[in-house]
Amino acid sequence: MEVVEYNSEFLKIEFVTSKIVRFHFSKDRIWKKNYSFCVNLEKFEEVDYEHREDNRAHYFLTSDLNIVIYKNPNRIQIYDRKGNLINSDYRDLGYVKKGEGIYSYKEIGKEKAFLGFGERIGSLNKKGKRIINWNTDEPNHEFDRDPLYQSHPFFLAYSNLSYGLFYDSTAFSYFDMGFESKNYYYFFTEDDELDYYFIFGPSPKEVIENYTYLTGRCYMPPLWSLGLHQSRWSYDSEDKVYKIAELFRKKNIPCDALYLDIDYMEGYRVFTVNRKRFPNFEKMIEDLKKLGFKVVIIIDPGIKMDKKYKIYIEGLKEGFFCKKKTGEIFVGYVWPRKTVFPDFFKEKVRKWWGEKHKWFIDNGIYGFWNDMNEPSNFSKFGYYMMKLLFHVFHFKEPPDPFKAKNFEERVKQIKEKTLPQDVVHGEDEVLIHNKVHNAYGLMMTKSTFDGFRETKKEVRPFILSRAGFSGIQKYSAVWCGDNKSTWENLYSSIVTLQNLSISGVPFVGEDVGGFWRDCEKELFIRWIQLGVFYPFFRIHTAKNTRDQEPWSFGEEVEKIAKEYINLRYQLIPYIYSLFYEAKEKGIPLIRSFVLEFQDEEVLSHEDEFMFGPFILVAPVFERGKREREVYLPKGFWYDFYTGKRYRGGSIIKVFAPLNRIPLFLREGSIVPMWDVQNYVGEKKQENLYLKITPGEGRFLYYEDDGISWNYENGEFNLIEFYTLMKDGNQYLGIKSIKKGYVSPIKKIIVKTFRNDFILDPKDGEYLIS
Ligand code: GLC
Repeated sequence: MEVVEYNSEFLKIEFVTSKIVRFHFSKDRIWKKNYSFCVNLEKFEEVDYEHREDNRAHYFLTSDLNIVIYKNPNRIQIYDRKGNLINSDYRDLGYVKKGEGIYSYKEIGKEKAFLGFGERIGSLNKKGKRIINWNTDEPNHEFDRDPLYQSHPFFLAYSNLSYGLFYDSTAFSYFDMGFESKNYYYFFTEDDELDYYFIFGPSPKEVIENYTYLTGRCYMPPLWSLGLHQSRWSYDSEDKVYKIAELFRKKNIPCDALYLDIDYMEGYRVFTVNRKRFPNFEKMIEDLKKLGFKVVIIIDPGIKMDKKYKIYIEGLKEGFFCKKKTGEIFVGYVWPRKTVFPDFFKEKVRKWWGEKHKWFIDNGIYGFWNDMNEPSNFSKFGYYMMKLLFHVFHFKEPPDPFKAKNFEERVKQIKEKTLPQDVVHGEDEVLIHNKVHNAYGLMMTKSTFDGFRETKKEVRPFILSRAGFSGIQKYSAVWCGDNKSTWENLYSSIVTLQNLSISGVPFVGEDVGGFWRDCEKELFIRWIQLGVFYPFFRIHTAKNTRDQEPWSFGEEVEKIAKEYINLRYQLIPYIYSLFYEAKEKGIPLIRSFVLEFQDEEVLSHEDEFMFGPFILVAPVFERGKREREVYLPKGFWYDFYTGKRYRGGSIIKVFAPLNRIPLFLREGSIVPMWDVQNYVGEKKQENLYLKITPGEGRFLYYEDDGISWNYENGEFNLIEFYTLMKDGNQYLGIKSIKKGYVSPIKKIIVKTFRNDFILDPKDGEYLIS
């Protein structure tokens, strides 16, 4: 750690690795901020660096970077060790304190694009845009709507020397990425201190790897959570839940998870069950388990203000609820009407909350869905409006009176949709809401995760969160909230999920079929076809909307939906192995072309993506379309269905009838697949299929028991599959890298487009052409 002067402040420089550097500026020449909700610097080892100084500057050299901090005027410039400039302050404006906040300006140099920023609507590349970090319950996902539920103050600056910047600030903040001027971008925060990390690549994948090294990576999700999740607001009685479950099984449509939305509770009181609607809740969970279903229940943070309600009484007694500066408990309005909010910034509260899940866990619930945790607060007027519109007039979407006229108005609006600025948090109640707002959901989800791990040590939970901050991937999956059943929102999901993935969150998805409004046949088909390639695959829809199960749109739709859900189940071993890569390196499953084909001009093809290294997905996102243009990056590609070969490097037109989403396999693909099953664990998967295309490739196959934490003690297998070309023939190599678990595999069935070969699962190289 080193300290230098910068614009009348001190600047602390810390090396996390030779490629990750922290810049922490003092405020009025002292550092007070001693917390981070996502980075734990203590866990990192010392890094070797050299410090030189002359009249002009300080020079900090690591094995990868040369950081120059000029003295007069002050300016930070970062070079690689070959002397190429990677990033530079804009003039001496690297730290500027003005009014309520701090600005940090950087020069726009060779960056072709700015990507990431967490959960964002609109185009993939945010160059020229302004982006707000403030977790907001935003029910209208129009193209220019920003922000949504999550804040990740991180971006990937894409060029041949890609880097990332992560601003570890949970306060209200925003990015101006060349909106004001083409020459610079800046970060503004209302935080007390400027605290950010420079993260070098140079490849985009290395940036993500390094960023997630800093902020954390996911755990292996329970295998069942990779299946289909079926939800609606709400399956509000036992009969309805049983009926859905039985229909899935009767129709042999695979499904693993069923959801209980807010109506399973007693008057929206969290941690209760409405016994009129669910008189035999425990038995229902048991019965569903026998059918292979896991039940996921919603848990909102808001607690009903009700003097007879145990959780409220306990929390009140212990002083667990958020207070205003004056000491009064803050009361807002959410589903249960008058609502108080647990202060998840207190450790005791997190523990208490975590323990509340016990009864449900003991009764077989392994999935928790954390919603409204921005936290969302309707206001009294909003609450009664919502009641009237949804319960009396049966609206299918909320009206949208909120279109802001300008940036300032938007900021004002979003700040009113949550706890007031002057709410205080934390052990000593000195954290002001405005400074920590963006971490509220993260802390709630952490509490759920820790509570689960404490209660049920042997099982991995499935946790889903709407709100989040950088690092949310350590605790949960993320879905992007309340989209609409519109073609625009199908399209925007393709882009939003790419940016969220770049931001280090691999387990992501959107409501398949759309949430608000009635879905229609064609849209449902196209969305299911796309949803197969969402790492988190859930159908969900709002109150008052039409049914949205795979069979709700007639036979033709059901047939196509089933075919694609089957495909999803076949792909589970591929998906699971990709999660291993996400866990180890942070590399997401949904990959923008810039991650896989960085030497090409691929930025304009944001409407396609790679699912893992091999499958190119080109969704159809317009009504009535039966063909689409697809850009195939350089190299050879094979139509997923027919094996037809294409030379890449150009745009082709492909036929996309209603029952086909265009999919292509890269040359050298090795995609492990299973037999279809109704739910994960129904069948012992003794056959492992490898779908292989010509060329050379490599895939690291991962397997474990799919449910326990034993993999942390080495109980898993890694097999390297690779293909080689020798004398015009293709060979498949099988190489066991790690053996720690008894594999169910008895046969490997190689499927090239021409032939099938059956192999024993033994190490060796086998001729397959
Ligand atoms: C929020 C959620 C939605 C849920 C609804 C009722 O709008 O985003 O998924 O169904 O609340 O709980």
